[in-house]
Amino acid sequence: MSDNWEILRRECESCQGCELHKTRTNCVFGVGNENADLLFVGEAPGDNEDKTGIPFVGRAGKLLDEYLNAVDIPRESVYIANILKCRPPKNRDPLPAEEDACMDFLRRQVKLINPKMIVCLGRISAMRLIRPDYKITKEHGEWVQKGNFLITAVYHPALLLRDPRRKEDMLEDMKKIKSKLDELN
Ligand code: URA
Repeated sequence: MSDNWEILRRECESCQGCELHKTRTNCVFGVGNENADLLFVGEAPGDNEDKTGIPFVGRAGKLLDEYLNAVDIPRESVYIANILKCRPPKNRDPLPAEEDACMDFLRRQVKLINPKMIVCLGRISAMRLIRPDYKITKEHGEWVQKGNFLITAVYHPALLLRDPRRKEDMLEDMKKIKSKLDELN
């Protein structure tokens, strides 16, 4: 049977594929334009996301919104999802087994959206979607063609909150993303 958003969301919300379902308040499925050209993929929900069920609504999310505004990409025009749909306790890094258990949801989201470009937010997402040995400090902002998609990675907004010196690079990368988006349209 062909996949659809309703089935996928329902499966995700009732998933017990790893231990994280036991501690979640909400499954953080994803949000945005289901026909987006641009898909952002973060790491995993934090506290605010777990409480609201919406990705990138906390401090890191507000910073992401600032960058989207700065380069004129409306948040509603893109889709935003995470590698993990449930919050890891104390916001620790996802375990490989948790990523394995969750990746099929993202794969199916990608298939349904069929975006032109995927932007990994942070190294965890880049190591999963681009290459396990991806080096974000060296490779951020570089485009990689993977199947039908152009894919790149930028610094995770939470990292920029801890290390504001990287904000200039982030703005440059976001400008490149906007130019590529305009080029592809
Ligand atoms: N960090 C992420 O990687 N994803 C979110 O949804 C929020 C913070």
